[in-house]
Amino acid sequence: MGFHRLASLAALVSIIHLASAHSTPTTAEEIETQRALQAAAYYCAPAVAELTAARKRAWSQRVLATGQPSILEGEDLFSQETLDASPNKQVMECSPVEDGAHVSNNTCVLTPVVTEGPYYHLAGHPIRQNIAEYQIGLLTYLDIGVIDVNTCKPIPNVLVDIWHANSTGHYAGHPEPSIELKDEKPQVGGKRNGLLSAFPRTKPQETWLRGAWPTNGNGVAQFTTIFPGYYTGRATHIHTKVFTDWKPLENGTFQAGNLAHVGQFFFDDDINLQVDKMYPYVENPIRDMVGRTRNWRDSLNIFEDSHGPEGKYNPVFKMEMLGGVINQGFAGFITMGINATNSLDNWWKG
Ligand SMILES: *[C@@H]1O[C@H](CO)[C@@H](O)[C@H](O)[C@H]1NC(C)=O
Ligand SMILES: *[C@@H]1O[C@H](CO)[C@@H](O)[C@H](O)[C@H]1NC(C)=O
Ligand SMILES: *[C@@H]1O[C@H](CO)[C@@H](O)[C@H](O)[C@H]1NC(C)=O
Ligand SMILES: *[C@@H]1O[C@H](CO)[C@@H](O)[C@H](O)[C@H]1NC(C)=O
Repeated sequence: MGFHRLASLAALVSIIHLASAHSTPTTAEEIETQRALQAAAYYCAPAVAELTAARKRAWSQRVLATGQPSILEGEDLFSQETLDASPNKQVMECSPVEDGAHVSNNTCVLTPVVTEGPYYHLAGHPIRQNIAEYQIGLLTYLDIGVIDVNTCKPIPNVLVDIWHANSTGHYAGHPEPSIELKDEKPQVGGKRNGLLSAFPRTKPQETWLRGAWPTNGNGVAQFTTIFPGYYTGRATHIHTKVFTDWKPLENGTFQAGNLAHVGQFFFDDDINLQVDKMYPYVENPIRDMVGRTRNWRDSLNIFEDSHGPEGKYNPVFKMEMLGGVINQGFAGFITMGINATNSLDNWWKG
């Protein structure tokens, strides 16, 4: 498909631009670390793809068996028994690699650390699986796996925090541009092409489409939400952070401890195209003005950077329809390879 060729070409181009992107290796040592990660990503991408595929298979088998893709809050669709029974018990074993000077042997895909953007709420994301609240949109069920690149094993009990825009492109808490930027026009050209300045947080009490849930024994966290909408300049995406250390608070939110990963997930553009024709997505005010940003036109190189330096990581959810027609919604599957010993700052640096 032409798109995929374009995407991988873009990913290649982004290697060249990496020095000017978010992670900037400068010293010889940093460059070597980057190289090792690239090599690891190259060799272990299939293992990650297999874990995702195994979960998709378990899902399909269940739908076939029951004839009903029902989603029940708190239910573990991928119990240990289901995975044990799967023919791919070896999915998490990464084969050792010997290849010249650059390769470390048993690491897996490292999803690149890409910007968290300006809409994270430092305090206040509730610990819950259903994050939709009263937002309307296409039912979307997310199945997010987390593996540690240092061990190649799924990581249980890490907190996967997600947040995304509603069906017409707004984040909870940020309904309006600041007054002096009310008439701002999207940037034209450059890396910020299509972007507006961030909307300020004026409604801190809002929590819709924000939530965090710990991974289960198989390293999987599952959420119920709506398919995200989009805003100017950005491809349709969902933000994520992974905390290896956190504390639940009495008000149902959490206190963040060690932050190991910051990233973004995407959807295939052919699915984005279909959803964009549905209510309430058609009501997005920018739809008829500037329109939807395609993945490969994403500003700040975020879509490209999310593929990793060698374009071997796939930040795009694999989607299954929940019913016979698209209006019944989707289940999306993805696996992140993270460096669990990483320790990142938990705030936006722009
Ligand atoms: C590869 O794995 C072996 C055994 O675990 C270890 O001794 C060796 O240091 C590793 N090599 C690299 C390059 O990571
Ligand atoms: C929850 O409690 C913490 C700690 O007291 C506080 O910082 C945070 O703002 C509270 N969040 C909400 C949504 O009330
Ligand atoms: C999305 O959020 C914005 C800001 O709160 C709101 O004005 C808009 O109505 C919401 N979209 C839908 C479809 O509810
Ligand atoms: C993971 O992060 C730690 C701490 O930053 C670093 O020492 C280690 O090399 C990283 N491992 C990989 C595979 O990138």
